[in-house]
Amino acid sequence: MSKKQGLWLGMTVLATILSQPVQAAEKVDLARAEEIVSGRCFLCHGLEGESASPIFPRLAGQHWEYVAKQLGEFKSGKRKSDTMKPQSEELTSAEMKALGVFFESKKASARPVKDAELMAVGKYVFNRGNQFSGLPACASCHGTKGLGTPQLPRLAGQHPRYTEDQLKQFNSRERNNDNAVMHTVASKLTELERNAVAEYIATLD
Ligand code: HEC
Ligand code: HEC
Repeated sequence: MSKKQGLWLGMTVLATILSQPVQAAEKVDLARAEEIVSGRCFLCHGLEGESASPIFPRLAGQHWEYVAKQLGEFKSGKRKSDTMKPQSEELTSAEMKALGVFFESKKASARPVKDAELMAVGKYVFNRGNQFSGLPACASCHGTKGLGTPQLPRLAGQHPRYTEDQLKQFNSRERNNDNAVMHTVASKLTELERNAVAEYIATLD
């Protein structure tokens, strides 16, 4: 075998070894996720994660990592919720992941703009923050379109009422999972900014 062939073989073996754990981890039971969603989650979050009412968060398009993390934290009590605690109590971590992958695969939809002036305030806060109060731009973490990352939640298309609720809970520390960053952010928002930015987020696609 030539040196080149040996190297090629070595790389092929390495690639096979590396790809195995990834393949195993990718095996998610979507049928099981669908069974759980159509059994109970749909009542509040909708069959497609579109949510049945503005008080329930939309899950469509949300990163699976974030969904799985939140479910784990509802279960352990790290994120307090009288509603979600019983919903997550019996879920295994494999089911949490499958539920995340299920919802991430659903299409999120944006809301049309209602109040253009309020939108302008929301857009400014989202993209630029407020240099006078030291408020950082939401876009700097959640992305310019609010799409988030596997570590940061997607905000785009969320119900304004839910977004505002969470911002209030981060501020009062009622929501205390990973609160360090969002408490500081929420504590700097005025009521107008909070409302405007939540309305703006709902229009992002
Ligand atoms: C009775 C209504 C209801 C049902 C049923 C329900 N949820 Fe929820 N869910 C909520 C509410 C309300 C919240 C917001 C958390 C809070 O503030 O209490 C929430 C929050 C969540 C979140 C966090 C979303 C975010 O953006 O942070 C996830 C993930 C979630 N639910 C998944 C599920 C799954 C999966 C099921 C089914 C096993 C389910 N929920 C069943 C009402 C419900
Ligand atoms: C320095 C980074 C950072 C900045 C800036 C930031 N966020 Fe966040 N945000 C986070 C992290 C991290 C979380 C996840 C918290 C968790 O996992 O519990 C989060 C969570 C949220 C949530 C909860 C989402 C859900 O589905 O429940 C909302 C709403 C939110 N941020 C809105 C905002 C808004 C509005 C701004 C701008 C005014 C903003 N964030 C600025 C890092 C940031």
